[in-house]
Amino acid sequence: MGFGRGKVILLGEHAVVHGCPAIAVGIERGVTAEAETSERDLLRLSPWDLSLAPDLDGDEPLERAFAVALAMYPSRPSLEVNVDVDLPAGAGLGCSAAIGVAVLDAIDEALGLERSRTDLATAALAWEKVFHGNPSGIDNTMSAVGGVALYRKGDALRPLHSNKPLHLVIGYSGEPSSTKEMVASVGRQLENDPKRVNKALEGIEVLVRNAKLAIEAGDHVALGQLLDLNHTILSSLMLCTTKLDEMCQTARRAGALGAKMTGAGGGGCMFALAPKHDEALRLRDLLGRGSFVAEVSA
Ligand code: MEV
Repeated sequence: MGFGRGKVILLGEHAVVHGCPAIAVGIERGVTAEAETSERDLLRLSPWDLSLAPDLDGDEPLERAFAVALAMYPSRPSLEVNVDVDLPAGAGLGCSAAIGVAVLDAIDEALGLERSRTDLATAALAWEKVFHGNPSGIDNTMSAVGGVALYRKGDALRPLHSNKPLHLVIGYSGEPSSTKEMVASVGRQLENDPKRVNKALEGIEVLVRNAKLAIEAGDHVALGQLLDLNHTILSSLMLCTTKLDEMCQTARRAGALGAKMTGAGGGGCMFALAPKHDEALRLRDLLGRGSFVAEVSA
């Protein structure tokens, strides 16, 4: 069975596209896939009742990504890959990257090939590029490798260690968003107003560096404050929605140590940092449909 986990970016999304570090966690929920030899190449995605043949020129990104993935295996039989997705799509939890990782992992298994999860992450970047054009690589890396880690484009992933687990509550706004469009929007803002946007990116980098220390020291009160500040900077880049802001406010008022949007923004998910597991369960109920708790050990 191939598996690609979902991810939550704790701090540093968007800035990571422009070379700054970011901190992310891999979560248990994700995508599973199974591949078997078949009469023709086919990608089936059960939650959406989709059956797609690979097509490099297809309209559907999944058709193109599947063609890119198959091209990585020069001599192979025809393959049918069945995918089960347990993540909301277009929600900032790395769904497209997790599908890519799971599909490649499943094909490796079907063909009896072995490679490390780091190499799998590198291979899945080609899949992710079909969807986002200019991905930083954080989604496919966290999907394949997991844990709690500091990621910077071009550098080896740096796992972070702490003796205190993170009690995260992920809330879904129900608003779909496009990573490609949100990344392009920040790119345009950077071009039009480099002084303002570079200041924002530098601010995020400082928060990420402090958050690394806070995680390692188990100081979740400080970490929560850094999350709130990162949310404010992302708002200034017009990446938040009223709904995401409201959800973050609700979580903070109800005792979260901090809350922020996560991923590309413009909709999708937010998360809150809870002080304890039972508080996380209470916040989950408050944040409503689609919310879930992720306990993450660094
Ligand atoms: C998307 O999950 C995170 C972004 O920073 C894009 C990327 O890093 O490729 C918005």
